Amino acid sequence: MKELIIIKMKKIVINGGRPLKGEVTISGAKNSVVALIPATILADDIVTLDGVPDISDVASLIEIMTIMGAKIERKEDSLIIDPRGVKNMPMPFGKINSLRASYYFYGSLLGRYGQATVGLPGGCDLGPRPIDLHLKAFEAMGAAMTMDGSSMKLATDGKPLQGANIYMDTVSVGATINTILAAVKAEGRTVIENAAREPEIIDVVTLLNNMGAHIRGAGTDIIIIDGVPHLHGTRHQVIPDRIEAGTYIALAAAIGEGIQINNVLYEHLESYIAKLEEMGVRMTISEDSIFVEKQTDLKAIQIKTSPYPGFATDLQQPLTTLMTQAYGESKVVETIYIERFKHCGELQRMGANIEVSTGSASIKGPSSLFGTKVVATDLRCGAAMLVAGLLAEGITEIHDVYHIDRGYAEIDQKLKNLGAVIWRETIERLQRYNNIKEK
Ligand code: UD1
Repeated sequence: MKELIIIKMKKIVINGGRPLKGEVTISGAKNSVVALIPATILADDIVTLDGVPDISDVASLIEIMTIMGAKIERKEDSLIIDPRGVKNMPMPFGKINSLRASYYFYGSLLGRYGQATVGLPGGCDLGPRPIDLHLKAFEAMGAAMTMDGSSMKLATDGKPLQGANIYMDTVSVGATINTILAAVKAEGRTVIENAAREPEIIDVVTLLNNMGAHIRGAGTDIIIIDGVPHLHGTRHQVIPDRIEAGTYIALAAAIGEGIQINNVLYEHLESYIAKLEEMGVRMTISEDSIFVEKQTDLKAIQIKTSPYPGFATDLQQPLTTLMTQAYGESKVVETIYIERFKHCGELQRMGANIEVSTGSASIKGPSSLFGTKVVATDLRCGAAMLVAGLLAEGITEIHDVYHIDRGYAEIDQKLKNLGAVIWRETIERLQRYNNIKEK
């Protein structure tokens, strides 16, 4: 039975077109921390994570882990996780479906107990997001998959997981990390070929090795894991969020009058920075910060997304907003998620001249953007809307900001510190509610 309910939501309002100036400090990487938190389940003792961003994906993971029996304390930007009381219980609907990275519970629960029952993962709607590669790897290690209502059950036939040789047909961040999580305590050696090479994978492997794991090759496309019986506690510093940094760089290039971005690792952003230099963005790069100045005669460029160290798909959306300010015709070719262009429709409503076809977008500029009502249809679309709202003349209202809060820590305060006029308002929306409880 469906009934209508009123739900309260927040919208972000920006009075744009004002130059921004000052300093901003980048938080810990979302895509690392969403794997690091489930990875702590594998430890026999307390793990402390430092530099954990204050984002809703982290809050959801803390809630899930607490239900499972972990004791978690937050002290400023540190999370002190005691996983000793974690029980292997079915992880049904609810929070699990609110974030994509809930799939890491498959790997970590399999790694600890040899079985896992977890609801299907959620996250941003970027078109089809299969997890066949994750399942193929678990099956190669001896865990069979069955559906249990709306949850997926993975279990061995009582034997411990076995090391295996796994070739990834597609380069996948999630499948690479999940295979490592499952293999780290498996019997024998697991070799992952065609592994993803993202910095977040190195971060997860650094944590696991400091917990006593034997993993080599992270950051290359062959990762070798020799299973160990026990993992102990440790303390770990999360790497800076390269996508958050890239978003602030795009923003600074569009409207900054000199913005210093702190806690950035340049090496994680090389392909992005090379493209910005091609556009004519002026940047001064120091050891762990980047100073960016606005450039008025930006040049059109072409980008093609690909796995790391290629151009990150998560950065094509905020960069599209900057492309609307460049002279000539820019082009985005998306090879990871060919439907990841919802931000273009929103930018068009703000005055951008964009044509989208399958897997690509052409952006003709420069265009003057004007404030209007837009929707953050997914997390990085939200980032593109924030940059656009700050750039546009007049008032921009961004709806569905819960997407932005999944991945951008203290976004309002960080932007206010740079001089942005930004605030939140509560709105009420009628929504259909399915009152039949999920099994
Ligand atoms: C991660 C990031 C996300 C980023 C994406 C690509 C997290 C939590 N999220 O997502 O921000 O946009 O990497 O850099 O780290 N694929 C399959 N089968 C699978 C798994 C993936 O075909 O089993 C395909 C996907 O459809 C996609 C490509 O592989 O085309 C890469 O996806 P993947 O790297 O797995 O993305 P996520 O780990 O979900």
